[in-house]
Amino acid sequence: MTASAPEPFYPAPSLSQRAQDMPRSAIRRIFENARRLQESGVDVVRLDIGDPDFDAPQRVRDGISAALAAGRTHYSPMAGIPELRSAIAAYMARRWGVDCGPAAVTCHQGATQALNAVMQLCCDSCAGVLLPEIYFPNYIQQVTLGGLRPRFYALDERFVPRLSDLESLLDANTRAILINTPSNPTGALFPEETVRALYDFAARHNLWVISDEAYCEFVFEGRYVSPLQIDWEQPAEQRRVIAIYSFSKGYACTGLRMGWTVSPREEVAGQLMLMNEPFTGSLTTPLQYGLVHAFDEDDTPRRVEALRSRWELAGRELRAAGLPFDPPEGGIFFFVDISSLRTKDGQPISSQDFCDRALNEAHVAVVPGAGFGLQPVYDSSGRPSSFIAGEHAAKGFRLCFAVPEERLKLGVERLRGFIAGL
Ligand SMILES: Cc1ncc(COP(=O)(O)O)c(C=O)c1O
Repeated sequence: MTASAPEPFYPAPSLSQRAQDMPRSAIRRIFENARRLQESGVDVVRLDIGDPDFDAPQRVRDGISAALAAGRTHYSPMAGIPELRSAIAAYMARRWGVDCGPAAVTCHQGATQALNAVMQLCCDSCAGVLLPEIYFPNYIQQVTLGGLRPRFYALDERFVPRLSDLESLLDANTRAILINTPSNPTGALFPEETVRALYDFAARHNLWVISDEAYCEFVFEGRYVSPLQIDWEQPAEQRRVIAIYSFSKGYACTGLRMGWTVSPREEVAGQLMLMNEPFTGSLTTPLQYGLVHAFDEDDTPRRVEALRSRWELAGRELRAAGLPFDPPEGGIFFFVDISSLRTKDGQPISSQDFCDRALNEAHVAVVPGAGFGLQPVYDSSGRPSSFIAGEHAAKGFRLCFAVPEERLKLGVERLRGFIAGL
C-alpha cells in the first residue's frame, strides 16, 4: 500500500460579521416555541404575533386575481405602478390632509423594506440614529446590518419621549431620529405637543425624521398628529420627514407585503425609488393592481371598532388580574409592566422567565419586553459584540389584542391563573 498525500483542507468561509452580530428577534423566538407546542397538540392562545385576524378585503383579492388573469405578471415600475401611487396620494390628501401628490410616493415591499431603504438613504455607515428605548425589534436588526450606531431616547411611564434627555444623545455623527406612534410595542400615541417638540429638535440639529406610521389607522383615544403633517406645513426645502406606511395592519394585508413612503421632495422620492432596485429588483405587479382597490371603500373604521372592543376587554381583564395597567391610546398591543410581581418566595420575575413560563405552564404566548429594548455594547474595534436589554423594556411583556374576543378572553384568564400561582 502506498501512502497518498493528505487531502488539502480548505475551511469553509465564515459569515459576515454584521450578519453574525444581528440580534435574534424575541418575537420570532416565542413564535417558534409556541408553534412547536401547538404541533405537539397543545391549545396555545397566541397573543404574540402582531397579525390582526382580519382577512384582506375581498376587493383587493379580486383585483389581484383579475390582474393575474389578465397576464399582469411582468416587472413593475420601480416606484410602483402609477395607478397605485395616485390612489395612495389621494388617500394621503383625504385622510391626513397631506397633499403630496404621486411624485412624493414610492411603493415598497412592506414597511420593513421601506425602513431598510430609508435608513440607508439617510445614513452612511457609522452614522447615529436615535431610537426609542422600547421599540419594534426589526429596527435594531436593520441598524446592525446597515452598520449604523443607535442611541436610545428615554420614554416616560406613559411611553412618551422625555424631551429633556434628547440633546445629550447627539454627537457629530447623528443623522436621524426614528419616531413610531402609535407604537409597537407600547401602543403609545404621542401628544401633538410632543410630536411638534421632536420635530423642532430634529430641525434644530439638522436630522432626518424617519416616521414609522404602520399603526396610524388604529387610534382609540385622542387625536393622531403625525410628523409628516407638521413637515408639510414647512416650505419644501426645509422638510425632513420620510414617512413609512403599510398596507399590513390598517388594510389587513400582512401576508401580501406592500407599504409606501412619502418623501419631502421629488428628488428624495426619486432616490428612494432607485433604492428599490438593489433591495427588491421589482415590486410584485398583480399585488399592486389589487391594492389600488384598498381605498375604494373606507372599511378601516369597521376594523378599528372591532379592535376597540378587544382593547377594552383586554384592559379590563388585565386590571382584574392585578396588573397596574392603563391602556394606551392606539396600536394593537399592550405593554404590561410586571416589575411589581413577586413569586411565592418573594422573588421578582424577569420578562423572559415570565413569558417562557406563561407559554409552557399556562399555554399563552406573549413576548418578553427585554426583546424590545436591546442595546448594543461595542468592543474596542467598534463591533457590537453583545446586546443588553434596557431596564425600562425589561420590565414588561407585550400582548397583542388583535385576536378573536373569545381567544383574548381565554388568554387573559390563563394569564390571571398563571400570575395567581406564581
Ligand atoms: C412598527 C412597525 N413598523 C413596521 C412594520 C412592518 O410592516 P410590514 O408588514 O409592512 O413590513 C411593523 C410590523 O409589525 C411594525 O410593527
